[in-house]
Parts: sequence; structure tokens; C-alpha cells
Amino acid sequence: MSHGDHHQHSTHQDSAHHHGALGDDESALAELLDLDAEALPDHLPQVTALIQLHADGPIRRIADMGSGTGTGTLALTQRFPDAEVTALDMSATMLEHLSAKAEARGVAERVHTRRTDLDEGWPDLHNLDLVWASNSLHHTADPQRVLRDIHDALRPGGLFALAELTDMPRFLSGELGEVEDRMHTALGDETAAHVPHLGSDWATLITKAGFEIRAEHRFTIAVDPPLSDAAVRLAVATLSRMREGLADRLAPADRTALDALLATDPTALANLAIRDERLVWIARRP
Ligand SMILES: C[S@@+](CC[C@H](N)C(=O)[O-])C[C@H]1O[C@@H](n2cnc3c(N)ncnc32)[C@H](O)[C@@H]1O
Repeated sequence: MSHGDHHQHSTHQDSAHHHGALGDDESALAELLDLDAEALPDHLPQVTALIQLHADGPIRRIADMGSGTGTGTLALTQRFPDAEVTALDMSATMLEHLSAKAEARGVAERVHTRRTDLDEGWPDLHNLDLVWASNSLHHTADPQRVLRDIHDALRPGGLFALAELTDMPRFLSGELGEVEDRMHTALGDETAAHVPHLGSDWATLITKAGFEIRAEHRFTIAVDPPLSDAAVRLAVATLSRMREGLADRLAPADRTALDALLATDPTALANLAIRDERLVWIARRP
């Protein structure tokens, strides 16, 4: 792999949401995943409320597939107080981080971790009431196979909830917004080449695996200024990693403009905004 390729894998778009166990990159990825939940505190509670709306029985046994730092795991323990959640991830670092957070939140006894590479098969975990997969399914080598495994791991009537990105969040406006647009275009081209399952026709794949789709929801995220400290940190971390990842593929003028922004004291960046859209499918095993 060339140095350039390494950089392609180091962008936020590629790393925070499309890649996982990338060694040195992992702590940065973990930070971004946590920042996302901290900066957008209403989002996961809204998603878990949607899941609850479609549950046709008690939700007690949950698996979080490709859990990362467990922002979803913890949101699910809050929404379903009788549930135990097993977090599945191939990264030991992510799972350790997740366990520490579960301990700090006082839910350690309801949160289990299992290190597993889902490309090697589904772990011995069955009769589940709910499986949650957030921005992890597109990482797998064969999402259709994983979907069938999830189907079989659920009890009849159990739910599968899938969150998949449509695009990265945006933070800038005016001329800087145009710079940001060009960064998104450049990253989009690279991602298409490196993460082929991203943007798959998930509804079709879910249906093919034997599920009935109960809901398809587009969450619109719009956070206006002044941004919270966490939201500013999310903006800076995201833009820095995009900048780093694109390196010399950014036009010099765009680089200069972005560097000036990133050199600004974060306390002066509360005038940024967050705009994003996130898709969630809720499906039921008949
Ligand atoms: C972008 S992160 C998403 C984390 C979390 N679900 C979230 O939304 O914040 C993707 C996660 O999937 C994990 N992952 C990727 N491929 C995997 C595989 N084949 N088996 C298990 N975990 C995998 C990565 O280690 C990473 O933690």
C-alpha cells in the first residue's frame, strides 16, 4: 500500500464511519464516535424511540453489531431498562473503551462484550429480540450473508435496526461551505473505490434476507449556532481528518482557507452549524 493509499484510509469519512481496526487510527476513530453522540445528544434517543415503537414484545436480549465505542449500546440500555446488550466488534480497543463507559454509567452488569470478526460468521448468540447495526454493515465483506445470520439469530418477531450513512455531516457555509463541498466530492470518489458496500440498496438486501421492513426513517440533523463545545470539537475533528486525509488532493487555496479555520481558537467557532441526514431501517423477522 502506498503512502497515498494510507492517507486515503485516514480520512474521517473513511475512518470514522467506514473503517475500524486501523491500528493507530483507532483512538481517533473512538474519539469521533463518542463526540458524535455527545454533540448530537438527541439523535440516538430518537432512534431508540423509533425502535421501541415497532417492538411487538419485550426487548430483553440485544446485540449491537460493530458496536465501536458503544454509543448505541448505551442508548439501548437506557431505552430498554430490562435488556442485556452484547456488543460485538472485532476491535479489542473499542470493546475495552465500551466496557469502561458501561462501568462509569452503572450499567456494566447489563453490557457484555464479545470480540468477534463477523466476516468469519455469526457468534453463538441466538433468540435475540433486537439487533442494532450502525455504520458497521457496510464494512463487512458480504453484507447479505451477515443479514441472513442476523435474521436467524433473532426470535420470530424480533427486530433488526440498521443505520447507514448517506453523507458526512457538514459544518461550514458561504465560501468555506464551497470548500467543504469540494472535500466531500473528493472523499466520495475515494470512498466509492475503497468501501464498495457503502450506499448499498439496503432495503432490498434486508428484504432478501427474509425480513419485513416496518419503517424507513430519514433523520434530519440541524444544529444551529451557537454550537456546544462538543459540537465544535466534532466539527474541528471531522474537518481536520478530512483535511489530513485529502492532503495534497485539496487545491492550495482550499487548503489555506481550511487551515486558517482550523487554526482558529475553538471558542471562536461556535458560529458553525451542523447539517446531516441519517437513514434508519427497522425490519422484523416474520
Ligand atoms: C464506523 S464504526 C461504527 C461504530 C458504532 N456502531 C457507531 O455507530 O458509533 C464501525 C465498527 O465496526 C467494526 N467492524 C468493522 N468490520 C467488522 C467485522 N468484520 N466484524 C466485527 N466488527 C467490525 C469496527 O471495528 C468499528 O468499531
